[in-house]
Amino acid sequence: MKRPLSILFASSEARPLVKTGGLADVSGALPPALRDIGLDCRLLVPGYRSVLSGVANPREVARFSQLPGYGEVRLLEAAMPDSGITVYVLDYPWHYLREGGPYQDATGKDYPDSAWRFALLSRVAALLAGPNSPLDWPPDILHCHDWQTGLAPAYLRFNGGGAPSVMTIHNLAYQGIFPPDMVEPLGLPASSFSVEGVEYYGNFSFLKAGLFYADWITTVSPSYALEIQQDPMGMGMQGLLAQRNGQLTGILNGIDTADWNPSSDLHLPCEFSQKAPSGKKRCKQALQKELGLEPLADAPLFGIISRLTHQKGLDWTLLNARQIVEQGGQIVLLGTGDPALETAFRDLAASQPGKVAAVIGYDEGLSHRIEAASDFFLMPSRFEPCGLNQMYSQRYGALPIVHATGGLKDTVQDGETGFVFTEPSPFGLGQAIQRAFALYADKKAMRRMISAAMAKDYSWEGSAQAYRALYEILAAGR
Ligand code: ADP
Ligand code: GLC
Repeated sequence: MKRPLSILFASSEARPLVKTGGLADVSGALPPALRDIGLDCRLLVPGYRSVLSGVANPREVARFSQLPGYGEVRLLEAAMPDSGITVYVLDYPWHYLREGGPYQDATGKDYPDSAWRFALLSRVAALLAGPNSPLDWPPDILHCHDWQTGLAPAYLRFNGGGAPSVMTIHNLAYQGIFPPDMVEPLGLPASSFSVEGVEYYGNFSFLKAGLFYADWITTVSPSYALEIQQDPMGMGMQGLLAQRNGQLTGILNGIDTADWNPSSDLHLPCEFSQKAPSGKKRCKQALQKELGLEPLADAPLFGIISRLTHQKGLDWTLLNARQIVEQGGQIVLLGTGDPALETAFRDLAASQPGKVAAVIGYDEGLSHRIEAASDFFLMPSRFEPCGLNQMYSQRYGALPIVHATGGLKDTVQDGETGFVFTEPSPFGLGQAIQRAFALYADKKAMRRMISAAMAKDYSWEGSAQAYRALYEILAAGR
């Protein structure tokens, strides 16, 4: 029998072991979707505290003692908790076993040594995809995700070659920028510090390295793939991306339809589905009670679940909040991030008791309950490579209100499954919110739109097929 195509995913996050955003959802869900269509996809992740404690029975499969700049690094093999996908864990406590998150300490300060930390992840990824791998599992493709693994294609290029590499951009705003004097200590030749290499406007960028040296580039929606070839969405990389446009593909993310299924979701007080939607009302009632909102069945509820960053357009939402409340709406936000935005939402909730609730924190169960309870979901991102919440929302009958950008534009049909506004401003959002209020007043039209949104298929299968087609082309050209 032919050996299945083997793919090594290198990623700094993977659900359910470690997550700060959508990257983790994708790294957690795409490998099993690829397995379901016959591929052997395995993961490489850093051994953060939550990773080491989250995998059962890890066993050592290799040890690296010769990596310049590092002490002894162990490679463990285990199975992912939910999917059973094989995961290689990079066990190097000095770099990864910390109290805080993957990128910042417990006080929110960036770690000062992340260049070393993620160069190591990249280096080992390249090693496992190259001729000197200690494993008897040679991947056909190395698939790197975001800047944290951006150096892997460069290491492959300069350290003896190996499997073809794919670099996926989940978010071009995070570029892994470090000073130029890190290039050589991290094991790359001085000559690579050039526009035709790892240089990015006088600095050293891990993402630029990946975009320059990878055999193929993908990003997470077709619209974003076009947007990033131009200013301003290209964020300085547009020249390179436009030049490589023949090797740049946008493949839309899917969602984990088992995890995000309102008819079997254990986080919810009550199930519902497109055919039997009435449980949604009970979910709303329960959430209003849980968060101290007035128990008004008829108040349109606007949900928000988000990293609190400039990208997400939350300042536009804040400018529309008063209007929503004055028109009888309620708002619930779940998020963490920028301290100024956290304070602004806390203050808003304090000034509108019973009408606005703001939960500052990270809470997966609550995120499901918000999707289930909301009538509308606000996601007015300035830019959005793909976005997952607008897809979860449609599946949960919370009609998304989104800006016409990236994956939002590709997944929400204006006036059919949600509201899409084009003017990038608080006013543009405000107009879309007014359309939502008007729809809410027309119960029949509202039911129709909810039903259309809930009927959409966002499973991973189609995207997995697209990745497989790409991997096959690259593997054949090896
Ligand atoms: P991004 O990756 O830019 O943050 P996505 O929409 O792709 O945006 O993915 C965000 C993911 O993180 C979703 O699964 C969302 O539900 C989750 N999420 C974001 N903030 C929180 C939070 N405070 N609590 C729980 N889940 C959150
Ligand atoms: C990024 C993007 C988001 C995307 C996610 C997963 O964090 O901001 O739009 O859905 O990655 O690809």
